[in-house]
Amino acid sequence: MAPCVSCFLLAVLISASCKAIPSSDPKCTEKDGNRTYNCENLGLREIPDTLPNTTEVLEFSFNFLPTIQNTTFSRLINLIFLDLTRCQINWVHEDTFQSHHQLNTIVLTGNPLIFMAETSLTGPKLLKHLFLTQTGISNLEFIPVHNLENLESLHLGSNHISSINLPENFPTQNLKVLDFQNNAIHYISRKDTNALKQATNLSLNFNGNDIKGIEPGAFSSKIFQSLKFGGSLNLSIVFKGLQNCTIQSLWLGTFEDTDDQDLTSATFEGLCDMSVESINLQKHHFNDLSSSTFRCFSRLQELDLTAAHLKRLPSGIEGMNSLKKLVLNANNFDQLCQINAASFPSLRELYIKGNMRKLDLGTRCLEKLETLQKLDLSHSDIEASDCCNLQLKNLHHLQYLNLSYNEPLGLEDQAFKECPQLELLDLAFTHLRVKAPHSPFQNLHLLRVLNLSHCLLDTSNQHLLAGLRDLQHLNLQGNSFQDGSISKTNLLQTVGSLEILILSSCSLLSIDQQAFQGLGNVNHLDLSYNSLTGDSTDALNHLKGIYLNLASNNIRIIPPHLLPALSQQSTINLSHNPLDCTCSNIHFITWYKENLHKLEDLEETTCANPPSLRGVKLSNVKLHCGITGMGIFFIVVFVFSLILLLIFSVKFILRWKYQHI
Ligand SMILES: *[C@@H]1O[C@H](CO)[C@@H](O)[C@H](O)[C@H]1NC(C)=O
Ligand SMILES: *[C@@H]1O[C@H](CO)[C@@H](O)[C@H](O)[C@H]1NC(C)=O
Ligand SMILES: *[C@@H]1O[C@H](CO)[C@@H](O)[C@H](O)[C@H]1NC(C)=O
Ligand SMILES: *[C@@H]1O[C@H](CO)[C@@H](O)[C@H](O)[C@H]1NC(C)=O
Ligand SMILES: *[C@@H]1O[C@H](CO)[C@@H](O)[C@H](O)[C@H]1NC(C)=O
Ligand SMILES: *[C@@H]1O[C@H](CO)[C@@H](O)[C@H](O)[C@H]1NC(C)=O
Ligand SMILES: *[C@@H]1O[C@H](CO)[C@@H](O)[C@H](O)[C@H]1NC(C)=O
Ligand SMILES: *[C@@H]1O[C@H](CO)[C@@H](O)[C@H](O)[C@H]1NC(C)=O
Ligand SMILES: *[C@@H]1O[C@H](CO)[C@@H](O)[C@H](O)[C@H]1NC(C)=O
Repeated sequence: MAPCVSCFLLAVLISASCKAIPSSDPKCTEKDGNRTYNCENLGLREIPDTLPNTTEVLEFSFNFLPTIQNTTFSRLINLIFLDLTRCQINWVHEDTFQSHHQLNTIVLTGNPLIFMAETSLTGPKLLKHLFLTQTGISNLEFIPVHNLENLESLHLGSNHISSINLPENFPTQNLKVLDFQNNAIHYISRKDTNALKQATNLSLNFNGNDIKGIEPGAFSSKIFQSLKFGGSLNLSIVFKGLQNCTIQSLWLGTFEDTDDQDLTSATFEGLCDMSVESINLQKHHFNDLSSSTFRCFSRLQELDLTAAHLKRLPSGIEGMNSLKKLVLNANNFDQLCQINAASFPSLRELYIKGNMRKLDLGTRCLEKLETLQKLDLSHSDIEASDCCNLQLKNLHHLQYLNLSYNEPLGLEDQAFKECPQLELLDLAFTHLRVKAPHSPFQNLHLLRVLNLSHCLLDTSNQHLLAGLRDLQHLNLQGNSFQDGSISKTNLLQTVGSLEILILSSCSLLSIDQQAFQGLGNVNHLDLSYNSLTGDSTDALNHLKGIYLNLASNNIRIIPPHLLPALSQQSTINLSHNPLDCTCSNIHFITWYKENLHKLEDLEETTCANPPSLRGVKLSNVKLHCGITGMGIFFIVVFVFSLILLLIFSVKFILRWKYQHI
């Protein structure tokens, strides 16, 4: 009995393993053309035969290839990009990529590598990007260096590397990106950095390594595109270690879970002895913030202090005349004057987005920023009853202003008189109070983009947009119109240069036939998410060749005389309308089928009526709308009575004539 049971078990096992085989019958999917294939997560143990030899891009992650060797990919000699993430690869044998001369990128992320043969990466002479993230590497000697002359990026994050000492013969002349994030590097010596001598303009990432020491001179007279030391606990060490170094962008932010030391003036002392263009210090805490903290910041062009728990910036900061961009997002200012803007007289861009407290704009707080071009004050709980001339005093060169997602703003007449150069104004989701009949935008002759979505506007104020001579892009989404209707005279009549007009979600029931007269330049009109019926399409008579979105409206029937207004547009979206698919709409349905090339979202353009056709795509509807039997009967009766009438009248006339002879 027992042997039989084990036989049975064996049989089950065999059939189970036989059953497992179809899963190795792969269903790799072809992506854009027949050169890119995705075989991710298919439990594959080899390259399936169904992949053509011409495959160039192969995404093969989450399969099972414990060893790879010269036969594994031998057929796919045209490979350019190979992703082998998490394939449980332990061994990479000799000449694995022997004939892969085109191979440009190899991703080995997440494989527990035990061995890579000396010649495993010879062959791909053009190899530019090598990903060895999370592969358990602890020593850089592990990486085979043969033929890596063209390597541009080497990713070594999340390993156990403690020294960045590259092998002596490691080719670095083309290296642009070297990523060591989340390793165990605590000390950087001169010898380490000397190996990188040949790399110019390198981006070097040490985020998530707690650097405890840098040998003096290690970075001396070296030039970097970017250096990242995020998450280092003692930044003094970093600044000191970077003496005489030239860096485009220095990222020193910290992370939520890092228990790092507060920054003091002493921390930044080393910054005086190096040349840096841009610094990011996000999420740090400052201790004893004073003007001397910024003593060594004088040559900076960009400073990012996002979420740095700031309540104010000290007054009397001197010498920061080079600063062009200042980011103060997600801090705790109460009033705009607390940033002491006068310290940064050359500022072009200022971001105070997502302030954690209600931000009072104060008066004249930015008046020294005469060169300011871009100002972002979005999501900052700003409220003002009389905006914005005192608040934005002297910002004559401002081109971009973002006041979206704030509290109610009262806009006075010519509210932006101080900023005549504005090209983009975003007031979305900020409740605006404008006293009719004024135009707050009167003097903005250069304004091209105006976002007034969800501003609870008084759209009956016909002068609201007066003066916007050059406006190209107007977003009025989510505002409502009186009686749900855009009338013949309306606020759009003053903005004849419009090209893009968004009127979605405006609760519109109808649009006057003349409403868009004068909007001859419009090429994009979004009327989606309203309650418009087919009759409103009459208003489109004045527009030609536009993109028209009528999705999610209440269109059932479009009468024949309105079809020309649609025909003359270039693309139309009619999805999610309760379209009528009965003979009363036959003209529209016929037109629809003849103009499929102009319509988008055919999948979602379906019938709502009659119930038998509900949900059927309009393009699939077949209607037979000949004259019915009853119709024919009536016509026959009608013609017959007509003939009878004729005969009787002829008889009557003849009789009458004879009687009078
Ligand atoms: C692959 O696509 C190209 C053009 O897209 C075509 O010329 C070629 O015949 C296709 N090859 C195969 C094997 O389908
Ligand atoms: C793979 O390597 C073996 C032994 O090193 C060799 O005999 C064989 O020819 C190689 N195959 C290919 C396709 O290069
Ligand atoms: C693909 O390559 C293999 C080995 O290089 C060759 O035997 C096979 O004939 C090729 N298949 C096609 C369709 O060219
Ligand atoms: C340095 O690299 C950056 C991007 O990595 C590039 O934009 C810049 O032009 C390069 N500078 C030089 C001098 O090569
Ligand atoms: C930095 O440069 C100065 C002047 O060139 C030199 O005196 C100093 O020793 C250098 N510092 C380091 C750490 O190399
Ligand atoms: C940070 O490093 C500097 C020297 O680079 C040292 O003087 C200072 O004591 C360190 N700070 C702490 C809190 O260890
Ligand atoms: C204005 O800020 C909001 C929120 O920060 C953002 O979503 C929007 O894209 C910005 N507007 C422009 C024009 O960049
Ligand atoms: C307002 O509209 C502009 C232009 O379309 C867009 O860039 C911006 O992101 C919009 N703002 C918001 C808050 O969505
Ligand atoms: C049609 O318009 C709806 C609503 O705006 C949108 O969700 C959908 O993506 C549009 N279809 C296409 C193909 O753009």
